[in-house]
Amino acid sequence: MKLNKTVLLIGLGNMGAALAGTLLDAGYETWVWNRTKEKAGTLLEKGARWSEDVWAAVGYVDYVVMCLSNYANCAELLSKCSDLDNKALIQLSTGTAGDASSFENLVEQKRGRYLDGAILAYPSNIGDPRCSILVAGNSLAWKECEALILALGGKSQYLGEEVGAPSHLDHALIAPSLIMQMAVIQGMHMAKKAGVDLEYYSKMISGLPISLKADQERHTRAIIDGDFSQVQASIRTWKEALDRILEEGKGSNFNTELLSGIGEILRNGEDQGVGEEDLAALVKTMG
Ligand SMILES: NC(=O)c1ccc[n+]([C@@H]2O[C@H](COP(=O)([O-])OP(=O)(O)OC[C@H]3O[C@@H](n4cnc5c(N)ncnc54)[C@H](OP(=O)(O)O)[C@@H]3O)[C@@H](O)[C@H]2O)c1
Repeated sequence: MKLNKTVLLIGLGNMGAALAGTLLDAGYETWVWNRTKEKAGTLLEKGARWSEDVWAAVGYVDYVVMCLSNYANCAELLSKCSDLDNKALIQLSTGTAGDASSFENLVEQKRGRYLDGAILAYPSNIGDPRCSILVAGNSLAWKECEALILALGGKSQYLGEEVGAPSHLDHALIAPSLIMQMAVIQGMHMAKKAGVDLEYYSKMISGLPISLKADQERHTRAIIDGDFSQVQASIRTWKEALDRILEEGKGSNFNTELLSGIGEILRNGEDQGVGEEDLAALVKTMG
């Protein structure tokens, strides 16, 4: 009788290698395949098993996990699979909702049961109880794979049968994550250009989340309730502040590309008549 659950993990880039290492640590018998075999070295030393032909191991395993750079590469690889043998396939590459839906069709054509996941973490966070993977798709496959997915990320959640759901939510989370990081980089760039001590400036930035949290809560409430009457600083006031910064940045004092984009959104808001409302009212003018 087989004691441990077995998994085939396809793709050993930064993320795939972290997934495979975590599954080995969690006691899964882990078969691995990667286009470049050398990347499997450390995992093979840890006890992973190498699948010479990517799909040969499907017959031996309980689940298949894919994590390649994109869905097109996954689809090309999957076209070489003759039969998924009713196994659950968990797709953890990043893509759009449309990618997820097309890939679900391909997996079902190969007699597989499909789950689509979006990883909300860096490779170093995989296996952490706070790490989250958003998953959707075949509900029976979820029940079967829940323990495996929770081993990869303890805060993972099942969002239902609609396979596009993880991607939609992932994109809506990537946007603020990227914008907030770019905000820090923009500020550091401006402080550096102005000759401000960066250690000192960095401490000041660290103090900002106190007010940012309050802003986030106020904006969230306003957007959910559709009530923008509570104004801390109007769109016009923010735009005037930004115009001064953009004026100062002219003549290559500092890079203004990111700020100019925000300026366009504020200007559009004013043109559409929400200039005296709180920043959250821009959501009404963003299309
Ligand atoms: N890294 C992160 O922080 C992170 C976070 C969340 C989600 N993700 C997602 O996880 C996925 C993998 O990311 P990663 O960071 O592991 O990227 P990566 O280090 O660049 O690895 C890419 C993987 O895709 C494989 N690959 C690329 N083209 C291929 C092809 N034509 N045929 C077969 N295999 C191919 C690579 O194989 P070779 O080794 O042979 O090149 C490698 O295994 C991406 O969709 C990414 O968006 C990553």
